[in-house]
Amino acid sequence: MARIAYLECTKCGARISADQAQTVCPKDGGVLYVRYDLAALKRSFTAASLFGRTPTMWRYAEVLPEAEPVSLGEGFTPMLPSREFPNVYIKDEGLNPTGSFKARGMSAAVTMAKAYGLKKLAAPSAGNAGSALAAYAAAAGIEAHLFMPTDVPLANRVECESYGACVTLVDGLISDCARMLAERKEKEGWFDVSTLKEPFRAEGKKTMGYEVAEQLGWRMPQGIIYPTGGGVGLIGMWKAFDELEQLGWIGSERPQMVSVQAAGCAPIVKAWDEGKASSEFWPDAATLAAGLRVPKAYGDYLILDILKKSGGIALAVTDEEIMDALRHWGRVEGIFAAPEGAAALAAYRKLRAREFFGPDDTVVLFNTGSGLKYLDVIEKQKQPRPAPRQIGGIIGPY
Ligand SMILES: Cc1ncc(COP(=O)(O)O)c(C=O)c1O
Ligand SMILES: [Zn+2]
Repeated sequence: MARIAYLECTKCGARISADQAQTVCPKDGGVLYVRYDLAALKRSFTAASLFGRTPTMWRYAEVLPEAEPVSLGEGFTPMLPSREFPNVYIKDEGLNPTGSFKARGMSAAVTMAKAYGLKKLAAPSAGNAGSALAAYAAAAGIEAHLFMPTDVPLANRVECESYGACVTLVDGLISDCARMLAERKEKEGWFDVSTLKEPFRAEGKKTMGYEVAEQLGWRMPQGIIYPTGGGVGLIGMWKAFDELEQLGWIGSERPQMVSVQAAGCAPIVKAWDEGKASSEFWPDAATLAAGLRVPKAYGDYLILDILKKSGGIALAVTDEEIMDALRHWGRVEGIFAAPEGAAALAAYRKLRAREFFGPDDTVVLFNTGSGLKYLDVIEKQKQPRPAPRQIGGIIGPY
């Protein structure tokens, strides 16, 4: 595969060829990173060369696999200055095709699947990854087989079916979906594009890091708050910053990376608080933020390492705090966020109260998806209105 130098195991450092489709390190199951010859690229690929390029994630083509992109216009989403907090920016990923940042990863993964000649892709999904895979597979003329929990947001299921994907609803969590997929994939001839079990979804998501840097004028923010399930975006952005430094576009400065999880499923927060290098399976995971209901992230060791290296933190917010933040963003910023994205605002509020971030710190909050994908979930959470009171013939809540 031209342009890719090799794939590198994040556990043992083994170098693996990208000439055929790969999953994880055959020796130890480690996540594989795509490596390029950045020293050679540095000579010709400059920030100025981006001028006038397509406003999609494929504007960073030199640091993406060399293949005909399967694109629906993903990436280069707005970086909106907050109307409420000076120095805070909201990276609005809800404007991506299929309404979430999952479009980036699936655009890259399906691009490569097509280049490798794969015909059948499969993934477990909390919802949005399924929608994205279904859409990009349709655009590429490839079969998509999705395993999603029965209580997946309605929009995701309807959307996947509309793209012609084969959807199996599983009475359980995303971990149960993954198990069911693993049992069937060999017999069915499916290629597994589960989170971090193939190398290219992270490549797509790393473009968020390139965009944060470009949209802030090649300056690193003080902090990035990222709603973390499998953590691919956080891992991808950190990889992007290392690449940007090797390209000479930024220096050694890095943002403090913050993982926010839901209190009902916070394995990374627990591991972080206990000073551990990997997480344990979170039993009875429950949160209305479907994308954060990941009881054990495959790349947990990478997430925890990044939090540590960046001087960041992991913290949990409750579903009530998420819903309050979601309504608040809607009213104050005009942004209808996914519950996962709203968790970033809830986390920012807590980190300001704790003085982890100060008012002068530039902080980027990731709204990872659109609230429009969660109408059923949000409607269910509606606060009961106060009963009308009748006073002297006049009716009303006052
Ligand atoms: C809207 C949204 N935000 C965040 C996440 C978590 O993403 P990641 O697995 O990259 O941590 C998901 C995953 O499904 C999601 O759909
Ligand atoms: Zn390895």
